[in-house]
This record gives sequence, structure tokens and C-alpha cells, in this order.
Amino acid sequence: MLSAIYARIEYYVAYYPGTALLLTIAVCISTTFFVISEIFVPVGKRRPPPGKEWRLPPGPKGIPIFGSLLDLRSARDDPDFKMHQDLARYGEMTTLHLGSKTWILLNSQRVVSEIIAKRGSLTNGRSPMPIASGIVSRHSRSLLLPPDGWTEKRRVMHSLLSGTALKQYAAWQELESTQLLAEYLFQPESWYRHHYRYANSVIHRIALGERLVKTGKELADLQDVVTQFVGSIGSSLIDWFPKLDALPKSLQLWRGYWEKFDQWNNGVYRSWWEPVRKQIDAGIAPPSFVRDVLLHEETKFTGNDEEAMYVAMQLIEAGSDTTREALNIFVMAGLCHPKVFQKARQEVDSICAAEGGALRLPIMTDMEQMPYICALIKEVLRWRPIFPFTPDHVLTSDMEFEGYHFPAGVGFVINGIPVCNECEDPGKFKPERWLDGHETDIAHGLWQFGGGRRICVGYRLAQRGLFLNVARLVMCFDYAPLWNMV
Ligand code: HEM
Repeated sequence: MLSAIYARIEYYVAYYPGTALLLTIAVCISTTFFVISEIFVPVGKRRPPPGKEWRLPPGPKGIPIFGSLLDLRSARDDPDFKMHQDLARYGEMTTLHLGSKTWILLNSQRVVSEIIAKRGSLTNGRSPMPIASGIVSRHSRSLLLPPDGWTEKRRVMHSLLSGTALKQYAAWQELESTQLLAEYLFQPESWYRHHYRYANSVIHRIALGERLVKTGKELADLQDVVTQFVGSIGSSLIDWFPKLDALPKSLQLWRGYWEKFDQWNNGVYRSWWEPVRKQIDAGIAPPSFVRDVLLHEETKFTGNDEEAMYVAMQLIEAGSDTTREALNIFVMAGLCHPKVFQKARQEVDSICAAEGGALRLPIMTDMEQMPYICALIKEVLRWRPIFPFTPDHVLTSDMEFEGYHFPAGVGFVINGIPVCNECEDPGKFKPERWLDGHETDIAHGLWQFGGGRRICVGYRLAQRGLFLNVARLVMCFDYAPLWNMV
């Protein structure tokens, strides 16, 4: 049989050399293509074990090997997030194949609550990211780590959610917020810079113990680290095809670029961390998360010095940018919706009126009595979500859910745009929609902090900081576009 096939091939090569060459090239290309697609097949398309069958929600077909990766990349630059909204037309869940990964987008609050919150013990993984988590973060930024590296870091960070810690931090938040008001007064045109300084100073003080005394260059360097780290997430093809990381290092031509960034990032971190570490070793450090929790002997943190540094510095980078952005969105809302702003001011004035008509500044303990301010903050985060997609929550074992059968390894991602728009008149800025008795619980019905076991460890801190500043700013300042002032 084989010899007959060989004879036929010889005959074609002899009599039709051109066609034979073309055929050989075609066979080589299709074989390579087949091998590549088999190696890089996305998690959701891998063959199930005998007797099992995967059933995933509908979604776009995408193109071979890359799936919908190229569409996703172009969506990153769309300020209107059209693709995010478009993808929700498939239903409450949409399957996206992205390189070797499979994402299940969660497009409604109901499925987010079912999958991220109620099934949080199964959906607390993260997908491998050899670049953003491996090289750039030295496997030490908890945000991107799978459960085995993450649990210990999460354990030590957990104290940031405790009532005792929050009370202690309130005093620092009040102090930094008073400075923000002074900065607004003297340099109103730089309002957005004051937001960044506030956000950075508070978390710096909480994490490292000191008020922020850094040069402009040091601050700019840290800001650049944050920008480049965030930019590294999902930007390298290697993170979408993580098996490429198994190639011999000499063949990984991309490494040099990312290692250079890592060296610089690590140097910036060290310049912030080492002085604090020395003070702690010398017994002269002021109270802080690092001194009293992370490096405290009772905590028994099992990581090494470098891992501890990444835990502390990650808090500063995660806490600064997000809080700053939320305050900027608040200003945008204040400008676009002056009536809401006035209503918020009335609430603050009514609580902070002292005898004789004088007013005092709002303080943290006023929060329970200011539901409208709390609702306004929830609306700020719903109206212009900071996270159009939250990081993937990867399934750690196979799971059945409402007729679907998901294999371990798929990532559930909160599709922030349709989830935030799932309400009446989503385009309108209406804090009233949150007046439901849960205003002071910022994570109730709002998924901008993620959810389940991976929920943002700073969400209560963030809420309290936003409360304080929003209440104080609506009381003390009016906002107007610059062109109205000339
Ligand atoms: C408006 C403000 C903030 C928003 C919208 C926000 C949002 C988020 C989101 C979406 C996640 C991922 C959650 C998930 O995977 O489900 C996260 C994680 C995280 N956030 Fe925030 N965050 C904010 C403020 C803060 C602050 C002030 C801190 C500082 C304490 C902080 C520290 C962190 C850390 C350390 C993680 C990783 C937690 C872990 O590895 O378990 N965030 N945040």
C-alpha cells in the first residue's frame, strides 16, 4: 500500500515538478498551522476527558489561533467602550477565545453575583502571565498571582479591611484631606494634582508610616512604574500564549525588553522601601502597616524581603491611581450635574451646621448620616467605571452552572460597562438610584472593586477616603469650567 503511494508521489514529482513543489509547501504550511493551533488551543476548546463535554456560552468566533485577541486590543483604545457593550448582546455571558486563554464575560449583575461572589471558592484563580506577573513583577504582585502564591500575601493584607485598622487610618485620611483643601484654595487650577498627592500620601503613610516627603522626580518615577506595569498587563502576546515561556531563554527574544523595565521598577521600589526597612530594623520606625503587620513577628509572614517589598509597594500603587481617578470623575460629575452637587452640599451643610450658623468640616464618623454623599460616590464609580474589565477570576476546577459546563482554567471577567449600565437611564448621573439602605456598603450592588475572595483589599479604605474628600469638597468649593471664569 505504502509503496503504491510512494510510486504515485515519484510520478508527480517527475512529471509535474511545479505542482509538486506547491503541494509540498501547502502541506508544510498546513501542518505547521495545525501543530501551532494544537499547542496554543484555548482552554475552552481543549478536548474534554472521556465521558465529559464542555458547554460554553455563545460568543464571537474570532480568527484561527488568535481568536478575538486583535479585536480586544483595538477595544483598549476606544474611550466609548463600544466593544464591551456590543459583546453583551450574546446574553448574560459571552465566551471569548483570546490566544490560549478563554474568558467568560459576565454581563449582568446576577451572573457576577452567582459566579464571582457565591462560587468565589472555585473562581479565585488567575491565569499565567509570564511577562506582567513573571518578569515585570517577579511573581510578587499579589494582584496577578494564582492561589498558591497569592494566599499568604492576601492573609497579611487582610488587616486593611478590619475596623480597628480603619479607625487608626481615619485620622491620617482626615489630615491629608485637610491639606488637599488648602492646596485647592491656593492652587485651584491644579485640582487634579492635589487628588494624586492626596491619594498617594494617604496610602504611603498607611503602608510605610511617614508623611510623604519625596522629590518630584521620585513621585514621577513611581507614577511611571504604575503606568508601565498597568500597561504591561495584556500588552505582550506572550501573556496570551503563556506556553511560549517554556522555550529556552536564549530563544525568548522579548525578555531583554521586559527585564530592563523590571530592573528599573525594582530599583524605584528599593529606593522607597530600604529607608523604611532600616528604620524598622533600628527600632525607630513610626507606626505603619509594614512595621505593625507585615514585618511584625506575630504575623509570621513567610515571604522574603523582596516579596514583602512588593506587598507594601503594590499597596501604594494600587491605592493611588484608583482613588485619584475616582476623585477626578467626581469633579467631572460635579461640572456636568450642578443640581446633584447642590443637593449633596445641602446634606453636608445640614449635618455640619454648628450653633450660630457656623459650619464645621465633615469627619469620618459623619458617614452614616450622609447617605446621599455615599450614594453619590457609588454613582461616580458606576457612571464612569474605572475598570471596564476586572482581572480574570480563573476557575480552579470544572464547574457546572445553569446548563453550562466550564473546564478548569477558563477565566471569568466582569464586563464592567454593561454591568454598570444595567439600570434605568444608565447615561444619567443619579445618586438617588443607590438610596436603598445599603449606601454605606460600597460593594453592595457595585462590582467596581471586583468580588469574591479576590475583592479589592483596599475597598473600605477607598470608600472612606472618597467619602471624606467628596463631603469636604462639595461643602467648600464650587466647580466651573475654565472658560466660564475668563
Ligand atoms: C476607587 C478605588 C479602587 C478601585 C475601583 C479598586 C479596584 C480594584 C479591583 C477591581 C481589584 C481586583 C479585584 C478582583 O480581582 O476581583 C483590586 C485589587 C486590589 N486593590 Fe483595589 N481598588 C481601589 C482602591 C484601592 C486602594 C485604596 C488600595 C490600597 C489599600 C487598593 C489595593 C488593592 C490591592 C492590594 C489589590 C490586590 C488584592 C489581592 O491581590 O488580593 N485598592 N482593586
